[in-house]
Amino acid sequence: MEADEKLGLISMIEKKEYMSRRQELMSMMHKNSIAVISSAPEKVRSRDTNYPYKQNVNLTYLAGFPEPESVLVLIPDREDGQVILFCRDKDPLRETWDGYREGPASAIKKYGFDDAFPISDIDDILPNLIEGKDRLYYAVGKDADFDKRIMDWVNHVKSQRGNGALPPGEFVDLDHFMNEMRLIKTKSELEIMKKAAKVSVDAHKRAMKFCKPGIYEYQLQAEIEHEFQMSGANGPAYTSIVGGGANGCILHYIENKDMLKNGDLVLIDAGCEYEDYASDITRTFPVNGKFSDEQAAIYDIVLKALKEAIDVTQAGTPYNKTNETTIRVITEGLVELGLLKGDINDLIKAEAHREFYMHGAGHWLGLDVHDVGDYKIDGEWRIYEPGMVVTIEPGIYISPKNKKVDIKWRGIGVRIEDDIVITKTGNINLTSKVPKERNEIEKMMAK
Ligand code: GLY
Ligand code: MN
Ligand code: MN
Repeated sequence: MEADEKLGLISMIEKKEYMSRRQELMSMMHKNSIAVISSAPEKVRSRDTNYPYKQNVNLTYLAGFPEPESVLVLIPDREDGQVILFCRDKDPLRETWDGYREGPASAIKKYGFDDAFPISDIDDILPNLIEGKDRLYYAVGKDADFDKRIMDWVNHVKSQRGNGALPPGEFVDLDHFMNEMRLIKTKSELEIMKKAAKVSVDAHKRAMKFCKPGIYEYQLQAEIEHEFQMSGANGPAYTSIVGGGANGCILHYIENKDMLKNGDLVLIDAGCEYEDYASDITRTFPVNGKFSDEQAAIYDIVLKALKEAIDVTQAGTPYNKTNETTIRVITEGLVELGLLKGDINDLIKAEAHREFYMHGAGHWLGLDVHDVGDYKIDGEWRIYEPGMVVTIEPGIYISPKNKKVDIKWRGIGVRIEDDIVITKTGNINLTSKVPKERNEIEKMMAK
């Protein structure tokens, strides 16, 4: 593959795939319409320093264009060009301080746009493109500043009514169309997601090998994130969770500041973002490399729930079958251990598991870690289709304050999470290579 046939030097997606995504979106749009997709705003972290820039992933999905202060415009059937980009002009001084800017002329060629203009001209040009269109598609209500700019452009058209200008009569949420497209991954997206998963697998294995009593949660985080960065990932797809002992019972524990103690478990929920795609893995293992009897008993229930849920996560099966499977296995397991008492079906009906398992079994995975896509259609659970990617992540968390259970169970928190691709014939577990059988974990940690 010639480098210039691809987007940039490191993108694993070809220009022609982005072009066909834009065509697909335009084919779903109303005849006389226009779509406007803005870059994400830059965010100040401290006075004059920003957070690392994160592009609006819908712009990434449609164009792969990475810069702030850019706006993509799609106008199906426009004879003078259907795909237009507004972006920053070249600026040698700013590029010395802040880095490369593509500039409109080069962007046309590199990204396959029909036309491009400096962002500084958008207020003059965009109202003319909006004028006369019946519908305007944009991400309604997501970014208050951009909503206001859209309304300013539309109001500008309205102000020209006396000269015969026609403002759009309908405003349509673009996200609905984008979400459906993004839910089913293409071959090249799956290749990137495999790579993201592989880097995260290596990171979890590294942490497992490094762990011992007396080190700190942030040191395991550093091991994990070192592997991400050394492998060319963008960094973590979300703030890494490293919780020792009872910290493992806090679902979104991100302080990662405590010492890991002999006899405790540690729960690590961490995944890298690679070429903009997220991975999301959780493993829970003993800090000293050996599970206690109580830890093993809880762990085995969660592992069984995960395995059975993976088995039912197949094309043709409704989404909630995964969750229901985890609930059934966990309820049965907790009854067996005496942590829940009663008839299994009654307990399931009463959602008794919620005291110990208070989140759903997973979520779509993609450009966002909690990726887009409806879970229900017309009130019915969505049916799995090939190309969907989903996490499965059952857990049991026994609060250290739970006086209803014997003290020996308190403070045990276990979650195990894998990333699953639905295929025509079954599924592929992208993250199976991080050990999750107890004997495999103990073996790896003994090395
Ligand atoms: N790491 C976020 C999640 O598992 O959903
Ligand atoms: Mn996770
Ligand atoms: Mn997850």
